[in-house]
Amino acid sequence: MGQKTIRWDWIGAGVGLLIGAMDYFILRLVGVVMTLGGHDMSALVVGFFALTFAALGFVNGRLMMARTRAKDDAETIAEQLEALERSQQELVQAEKLAAIGRLAAGVAHEVRNPLGVIRASASLIQEDAEEASDDHRACTFIVEEIDRLEAMISALLKFSRPERLDRRFCQTLDCLERALVLAQPALDERGAVLERDLRLDKAHALMADADLLSQVVYGLLVNAVEALDGPPLTVAVRAWSDAGVLCVEVADSGPGIDAKDAQVIFEPFFTTKARGTGLGLAIAAQIAEAHGGTLSALQAKGAGPAGQGACLRLMIPEQEEPVSS
Ligand SMILES: Nc1ncnc2c1ncn2[C@@H]1O[C@H](COP(=O)(O)OP(=O)(O)OP(=O)(O)O)[C@@H](O)[C@H]1O
Ligand SMILES: [Mg+2]
Repeated sequence: MGQKTIRWDWIGAGVGLLIGAMDYFILRLVGVVMTLGGHDMSALVVGFFALTFAALGFVNGRLMMARTRAKDDAETIAEQLEALERSQQELVQAEKLAAIGRLAAGVAHEVRNPLGVIRASASLIQEDAEEASDDHRACTFIVEEIDRLEAMISALLKFSRPERLDRRFCQTLDCLERALVLAQPALDERGAVLERDLRLDKAHALMADADLLSQVVYGLLVNAVEALDGPPLTVAVRAWSDAGVLCVEVADSGPGIDAKDAQVIFEPFFTTKARGTGLGLAIAAQIAEAHGGTLSALQAKGAGPAGQGACLRLMIPEQEEPVSS
């Protein structure tokens, strides 16, 4: 696009004329003289051939130009089709998420109150039941399961109605430390070693919702711990600032994430865990985007030997204008 078109037609005509003129000199050189009625007709004949060559060159050049134009047009059409397909997919995804949101809000409203009543009733029955009795145990299960459902509904609502960002300048290290402190019990319970490489000075600050950002990093740490399946049990946290962007990586020495799942894991309800909601990363990605940033899975940057394991990278512009939500 916008490129200067090479006029192959005129170049072809020029080359044709040149060949015709060269023919004339070659004929002269070898002493061939074409006569008609005693007149030297060589110039006329060669001129005729030169014009024919020029015409052929011109037509060939035109054909070449048409072919190049057709190729360019085909490439442009292919690019436009690709862009169209991409925006169609984004639309479908946005519509899907909006539908999930509407459904979630409706279900949560209808389900929450009866769940509260069931939980309260189970607690009442439990109070009167013998400590070691089946009734007591059954009530414990009911309360536990309802608490799990309640957490799931909260996550669903958080995803469908993202919280408003409360952005202000916050100390980045404080924000990361909070996530690490929260995740420490989970790391200890799994016996995991935490490797820290926080290359930020104490004064480093960024415009963000500190609570939500800590929540994202905490969620990544919990996922990392949950992924560990055998020695070495390592979780690594790296953070640095590059060209006005805060980068935080949480890596582990678990089995890693297949390249084919690198996008799918951010979709709501994608989970490989028996008791997972599959909303953790979807909400985390939403929070990153609301900050004008990104969350992505990287290959070969895990915390295992030779970079095995998963590595999730969070990137947040340090001074980005708030994204209206
Ligand atoms: N560090 C990791 N290593 C390997 N797989 C991971 C890792 N982090 C996430 N995943 C994959 O991505 C899926 C989605 O993660 P996400 O946090 O959204 O949900 P979840 O952890 O399954 O459920 P929840 O967050 O509700 O406990 C996980 O089930 C897991 O398959
Ligand atoms: Mg999770």
